[in-house]
Amino acid sequence: MKKNNNTPLQPKSLIEKYNIPSPRYTSYPPVPVWKGIEQKTWFHLLNQSLKNDPSLSLYLHVPFCKELCSFCGCTKVITKDKAKGREYLDLIKKEYELAAQKIDFKPHLKEMHLGGGSPSWLPADELDELLTFFLDPQKFKIDPLSLELSIELDPRTTTYDQIQVLKKHGFNRASLGVQDTHEEVLDVIRRRQSFEQVKNVFDWLKEAGIKLINIDLIYGLPKQTEQTILETLENVLKLNPTRIAFYSYAHIPSMRPAQKIVERHGLPDAELKRKLYEVGKKFLLTHEYLEIGMDHFATSEDKLYQAYKDGHLHRNFMGYTVQFSKNLLGFGPSSLSSIDEAFAQNEKEYKEWKQLINDNHSPIIHGHVLSSEELKKRKMIMDLMCHFKTKADITELPDWQKQNLAALSKDHLIEVKNDSLIATELGKMFIRNICMAIDDTYRPQNRHSSSI
Ligand SMILES: C[S@@+](CC[C@H](N)C(=O)[O-])C[C@H]1O[C@@H](n2cnc3c(N)ncnc32)[C@H](O)[C@@H]1O
Ligand code: SF4
Repeated sequence: MKKNNNTPLQPKSLIEKYNIPSPRYTSYPPVPVWKGIEQKTWFHLLNQSLKNDPSLSLYLHVPFCKELCSFCGCTKVITKDKAKGREYLDLIKKEYELAAQKIDFKPHLKEMHLGGGSPSWLPADELDELLTFFLDPQKFKIDPLSLELSIELDPRTTTYDQIQVLKKHGFNRASLGVQDTHEEVLDVIRRRQSFEQVKNVFDWLKEAGIKLINIDLIYGLPKQTEQTILETLENVLKLNPTRIAFYSYAHIPSMRPAQKIVERHGLPDAELKRKLYEVGKKFLLTHEYLEIGMDHFATSEDKLYQAYKDGHLHRNFMGYTVQFSKNLLGFGPSSLSSIDEAFAQNEKEYKEWKQLINDNHSPIIHGHVLSSEELKKRKMIMDLMCHFKTKADITELPDWQKQNLAALSKDHLIEVKNDSLIATELGKMFIRNICMAIDDTYRPQNRHSSSI
């Protein structure tokens, strides 16, 4: 296909054309089109994969949060009942034991990530108990010098004692949910959080030697303007985070009814949302951050920066990672697991997850085995999500893909060469649309947020 010389559509028209529901491609195929997997098949494939390569990443989902943030799209349980912590610890330990009975190898633990909900909901002693249980040389081969340990922290519930527990276990990375620093915006999203709380946690982490710190921000919320976005970025950059996740607000009120509260305050239109992103991106790029994959920016101190430069960045259910292992096992309600050719998903609802475990059943209820066609498409989609480009023999692609790509090329979103596809600078913002051009599983539905 030739490069075209048409007059490009103006950004506003592009947004009108491409602002449609689309998957976030943390997996390919996306979860809504998975066909299901027998537990027996999953454990068989997992054992085969571990036999070839015993390296393992662990993900622990801690579902609890103290209060509901109205914007939240995560799978969580809102509770102030501290007795739930004890119950959860007993359940997740049992979940591990049930899985371990079916795993024939002692995996080599390379990384572990705690996400949620809010892992900082657990008091320090329970957090310590959880980490001691999983970071156990009886269960996994562990090389403490190369082990990567990371956690998501809510600055409103994180304590000094919890940080000391993380230090004791050798954590190298933490991610703080900040979202915005303006009171008006925080009020709308029902997140009462002072900048002092954020700074305190930052200082405690640095004092504990945890220097790789990510800050989550969101653009596209009510009351945000180009000016407020710049001010938020100026505020958080005073703390020198090594990474910033600058997420596009995902509005899916049909699945997260509390988001109707956000909607009442008036969401920015797609054109303003794009400007909020552009102004934020420009600011970060002029402050020595590099755009690494969709929504993410990192400084040269961060491992992901080098991984992006070297072409080794990966994307999985935990987000962007330097790939430490092809095998990912998730524990806790809603957590996901993956190996090269298959996925598995736990029961999402806490009560059902608990019931299954209490009945001595593995809580895996869904999954997918990839076909050879899907493996090829996954390679292209993950390359695009991580590096904004992919190698492909364009002449070999099916006609429907060629036509989709030609349409994107006409809008100057991609450059189509004989052996590769490359997103243009303009196309980076539409990367999910570019992936959709290769993805024939996608059907518009309200389970996905808009591309922009
Ligand atoms: C599990 S939370 C982080 C830890 C902790 N619960 C907190 O809020 O501080 C993960 C992140 O997902 C992002 N997030 C949640 N809901 C979102 C939405 N609707 N759109 C975009 N990002 C969202 C937020 O930036 C949030 O910090
Ligand atoms: S944003 Fe974080 S703290 Fe707020 S409800 Fe969602 S998971 Fe919980």
